[in-house]
Amino acid sequence: MKLYKIKKSNIDKNGLYANCDIKKGTKIIEYKGKIISVAQSEIDPKFNNNKAIYLFNINKKFDLDGNYRSNTARLINHSCNPNCEVFGSGLKVWVYAMKNIKKGEELSYDYGFSFDEDYKKFPCRCGSENCVGYIIREGSRWRIKKSRKIGK
Ligand SMILES: C[S@@+](CC[C@H](N)C(=O)[O-])C[C@H]1O[C@@H](n2cnc3c(N)ncnc32)[C@H](O)[C@@H]1O
Ligand SMILES: [Zn+2]
Repeated sequence: MKLYKIKKSNIDKNGLYANCDIKKGTKIIEYKGKIISVAQSEIDPKFNNNKAIYLFNINKKFDLDGNYRSNTARLINHSCNPNCEVFGSGLKVWVYAMKNIKKGEELSYDYGFSFDEDYKKFPCRCGSENCVGYIIREGSRWRIKKSRKIGK
């Protein structure tokens, strides 16, 4: 049985949803794409910022470009309180459950966007209690709270 299904999302258009209860640590879906060299992704303008949604680093030499319709995992939306994370394993990239997930929950991971002058272009609609309103990696969210305090 497939662990996920595609469904209309409350966050954005479509998303992936758990088709059954999923245990923490389970490999849910492969993030499929084309292996490209880091040297290539560094000069290709389509990856020219820290917000290239479909690009995953595999190791020092290789990245994975997942911007293909056949890559179902690309439908997973961002959340500020995600239940999945994405890791490389050899030359493959997998989406893993980072907590126990109940049947019917939307799958999500942290897109890992950086905090920079562009951040307001990426509003977040994940709806989680700790949502900072923008798609920004967990480790940089304190910067939003700080910029709010100083009124920027
Ligand atoms: C990789 S796609 C995810 C799949 C998308 N929902 C779809 O149906 O094609 C990434 C895009 O989904 C949207 N998205 C993902 N997570 C979001 C979030 N937490 N809040 C708002 N938009 C989000 C953004 O437009 C982002 O550029
Ligand atoms: Zn959010």
